[in-house]
Amino acid sequence: SQPPREQFTGQLGFILSAIGSAVGLGNIWRFPGVAYENGGGAFLLPYIIALLTAGIPILFLDYAIGHRFRGGPPMALRRIRRWLEGLGWFQVMICLVIAIYYAVIIGWALSFFVYSFDLRWGADTAAFFTGEYLRLSDTAAGEPWFTLDFVPAVLIPLAIVWIATIAVLAAGVAKGIEKANIVFLPILVIAFGILVVRSLFLDGAVDGLNALFTPDWGALGDPNVWIAAYSQIFFSLSVAFGIMITYSSYRARRANLTSPGLVVAFSNSGFELLAGIGVFSALGFLAHEQGVGVAELEGITGPILSFVTFPAVVSQMPAGQIFGALFFLSLAVAGFTSLISILQVVMASFQEKFGLTRLQAVFWIGGVAAVLSIAGFATTTGLIALDTIDNWANNIGIVASAVVMTILLVWVLRKGPELRAHLNAVSTFQVGRWWYVCVGVVVPAILGYMLVSRVVDLIVNGYEGYDAGYLLIAGWGTIVVLLAGALLLSAMRWRRDPDRFTAWPP
Ligand code: PHE
Ligand code: NA
Repeated sequence: SQPPREQFTGQLGFILSAIGSAVGLGNIWRFPGVAYENGGGAFLLPYIIALLTAGIPILFLDYAIGHRFRGGPPMALRRIRRWLEGLGWFQVMICLVIAIYYAVIIGWALSFFVYSFDLRWGADTAAFFTGEYLRLSDTAAGEPWFTLDFVPAVLIPLAIVWIATIAVLAAGVAKGIEKANIVFLPILVIAFGILVVRSLFLDGAVDGLNALFTPDWGALGDPNVWIAAYSQIFFSLSVAFGIMITYSSYRARRANLTSPGLVVAFSNSGFELLAGIGVFSALGFLAHEQGVGVAELEGITGPILSFVTFPAVVSQMPAGQIFGALFFLSLAVAGFTSLISILQVVMASFQEKFGLTRLQAVFWIGGVAAVLSIAGFATTTGLIALDTIDNWANNIGIVASAVVMTILLVWVLRKGPELRAHLNAVSTFQVGRWWYVCVGVVVPAILGYMLVSRVVDLIVNGYEGYDAGYLLIAGWGTIVVLLAGALLLSAMRWRRDPDRFTAWPP
């Protein structure tokens, strides 16, 4: 039979770890720009509705699956129906692929943390990031896009990220993951809190905040604004690709699930609002320094916000070194606690299926992921492939996983009542019948629409002007890799019997 399952030491350790997982790069560089572009202050309305009707309900669904069926996604889903195992491995593959490039961004943040102290990027921060730092210009047009020319400034921090990740995972759930979050989450809150307060006192901060929060109520009539809200909530809570299934499988049998879930969800959103305030105050300052309006600024989301626009803010600020260091420290820490959570999904799943010890699993999974990550992204191949893979894994892979999971569980297998009864049997906050409507109707309808329209758009319009052959390999190829990996892993033999299992409470 199975060895006794690892456990978080208690509710607090679980909550901190789950918040550490949810709060990531998306809170810092995605939310502020998305809110700004989709109605500003008015965006908060669809955002909150999306949180209540999709984010929290799928979070509860993940918790119920993981806690009742006690496994990583393949084992937990298989215990519902054997043939659901494949969906579990699809989620594991998503986690593995995301981890491989997510680590890279944390590595970049570490380099820029160090550069903050001597402001290495100078005045032309765009040229510094893609040129001197990533050396993208070394692979000029026409050359093969994959090279093995290592860039030391990327290689060294990336190696550090992988060593730290492997060390935390090797120490296990309670002594590794939980401890890391207990240390890093307070650091993140303090560093980011100082940053936000400081940015409020910058010249022009008010203009930035006005730009972000002035409501454009007309935006609420635009369906795309609502889609953007569901998409942000969904991405930000990291639901439906196995992380929360895995983490909740490490809770005691009698553990309150829903109340901590609400704490996690609202903390994550609180952190997004905080980031919106900090980022737009800083952008207001930059616009003020450049004598332009906030609306004329470019590069207000994603890697460009962090690694081009923020360095520009930092270099024009009095005592910018400290501000820069705090910003990149926050980015690295927020990313790191998310990275360990996605890799734990892969760890748990391999340990369970192939009967590996934790150290065997960390050796293989950490090793393979680190090698792929370093070979793929510490070279002059850099940014381009990362951005493409991210778009397909996130916008197609995860959304597909959520749609398929909710439809199968709620409609095909009719598992809604059992899962809701499970949540209510162990939790203080009781889940009403509204939950069926959310996970059974709202989520599949809105995410299903999103999925279809994105697939059609990518087929018809391509992506960011890249050529079709490249997108076939880097974009659609990512989906093929996810599916092929899932099929292969499902077909392999279990080394320990996963099916001798009785769910509790009955
Ligand atoms: N939800 C995280 C965020 O908002 C992103 C994330 C990605 C978390 C992958 C875990 C794993 O940034
Ligand atoms: Na988040």
